[in-house]
Amino acid sequence: MKIRALDIVKMKGERKIVMITAYDYPTAKIADSAGVDAILVGDSLAMVVFGMPSTHGVTLRDMLRHTEAVARARPKALVVGDMPFGSYEPSDGTAVRSAIAFVRAGAEAVKLEGGSEYADRIRAITRAGIPVMAHIGLTPQRYLKLGGYKMRGSSEEDKKQLLLDAEAVQEAGAFAVVIEFTAPEVAGAVTRRLSIPTICIGSGKECDGQVLVIHDVLGLSEKAPPFAKKYVDFMSIGKEAVERFVKEVREGLFP
Ligand code: KIV
Repeated sequence: MKIRALDIVKMKGERKIVMITAYDYPTAKIADSAGVDAILVGDSLAMVVFGMPSTHGVTLRDMLRHTEAVARARPKALVVGDMPFGSYEPSDGTAVRSAIAFVRAGAEAVKLEGGSEYADRIRAITRAGIPVMAHIGLTPQRYLKLGGYKMRGSSEEDKKQLLLDAEAVQEAGAFAVVIEFTAPEVAGAVTRRLSIPTICIGSGKECDGQVLVIHDVLGLSEKAPPFAKKYVDFMSIGKEAVERFVKEVREGLFP
């Protein structure tokens, strides 16, 4: 049965939620056939697919094209479109227009980075009838302001801020929240405090679910973050296959 945003909410306290990124038809097929609950068309697309140095270079147009490709795989998993840098910050109107474009491209929910400072955007998009997944902790789109990709929640002050952010996004109507690279005890405290599920990446075990980037899982990333887990070395497997092809053509064995 198709998984909707409300089904993800109901999973809190019942079973661990599993989300993974996918950016095209084949990665969506792999993720969905493996039984994930949600597929995130992440703006990590910029780095893992386009080879860019940060997520800043990916546009709404890029994200919509890739969301369409994922949606064409007709996954059972919930399809979440990740709102890229510049597609929701200027105003509530911009955010709602971008979120509608994601739905037209096949997304069943959208994700945006930010806590209390973007609660209004979450409220506006939710009011338009589109489920919103929030994203707090390390928010890569804000790396310039944060001074890099540093772990969050290490100081008492930051812990308080993260709890405030979590409550603000829940109050604004988010159906779930991603917590990225945050001290595990803080992610645990947020998880206990909220009635919506927390889906973590690099933030420990005490969350309601986990998310990873599919290229990190498959061993296709050149530089994976320290908290990622490589389940297979696809880069080597792929290289070996292409080397065999090269050899067979040169030796007249193929075709
Ligand atoms: O874009 C992405 O891959 C993400 C995950 C790290 C949660 O936002």
